[in-house]
Amino acid sequence: MPPATDAVLLDVRHLTRIFGHGAREVRAVDDVSFTLRRGEIASVVGESGSGKSTLARVLLRLIRPTAGRIVFAGQDVTRLSRPGELRAYWRQVQAVFQDPFSSFNQFFPVRRVLERSLRLEGRLEAGERDRRVRWALERVALNPSEVMGKFAHELSGGERQRIMIARALVVRPKLLIADEPTTMVDASSRATILNLLLDLRDEYGMAILFITHDVSLASYVSDTLLVMHQGKVVEQGEAGRVTAHPQHPYTRQLFADAFSLSKGRSVAT
Ligand SMILES: Nc1ncnc2c1ncn2[C@@H]1O[C@H](COP(=O)(O)OP(=O)(O)OP(=O)(O)O)[C@@H](O)[C@H]1O
Ligand SMILES: [Mg+2]
Repeated sequence: MPPATDAVLLDVRHLTRIFGHGAREVRAVDDVSFTLRRGEIASVVGESGSGKSTLARVLLRLIRPTAGRIVFAGQDVTRLSRPGELRAYWRQVQAVFQDPFSSFNQFFPVRRVLERSLRLEGRLEAGERDRRVRWALERVALNPSEVMGKFAHELSGGERQRIMIARALVVRPKLLIADEPTTMVDASSRATILNLLLDLRDEYGMAILFITHDVSLASYVSDTLLVMHQGKVVEQGEAGRVTAHPQHPYTRQLFADAFSLSKGRSVAT
């Protein structure tokens, strides 16, 4: 029997999302197909406006696809619409977004933010809730006793983002979709978050879709890369291969730009 990590978790076929119509039509996601295995980190890279966040929102079923199919763990989730069905899906597929300021409810202490996420699992007894909240905070390198009673304004941006990740982890999802999770945090939180993603893959076999415009971050964390350009996946494959031998002109440009930027940076310092 093949190891469980080889099993396909997410199978995306011809996924399309169009906004507007007529002359103002935007094909934000245009005929995208890929698979993600259990325990795999795939990065979606591409410039601003290439459709990365729209892809994330469609996969999370926060918005409907215009066409195509999403199969998660063998179940077709393309047309889920009843709240109960969506909640069952979100117990397995969780997300972290770029801005930890807007997604953090400022009126709740950290403990309550995480406990609300745990509600997706139905009723849990108080002791179990406490254990799960502490476990998730420890996973993101925070001291539960220190942060559980704090409010958003009492935390740094990097701490807030790690709490957003803990909020996603507390339900132990099979898939984590992280949309530019490190863009608004400082370098030390960025390193903590990236290494955490690798640990989650290695320890729990979590699959991760990591969305970034930064190809060097993508190459650092990913098993596979998906390069998006104007709504389409123009290149996909094993991260080392795509980085060393990009096939599509757009991918070559993306890596060339990243390289000249990093060269510029090293000259400047
Ligand atoms: N709700 C919407 N209504 C209309 N157009 C939209 C909507 N959401 C996104 N778009 C358009 O879809 C395209 C893709 O946007 P998207 O946010 O997915 O890009 P992105 O790759 O995440 O960009 P960034 O790197 O800046 O976050 C853009 O042209 C955007 O203007
Ligand atoms: Mg985006």
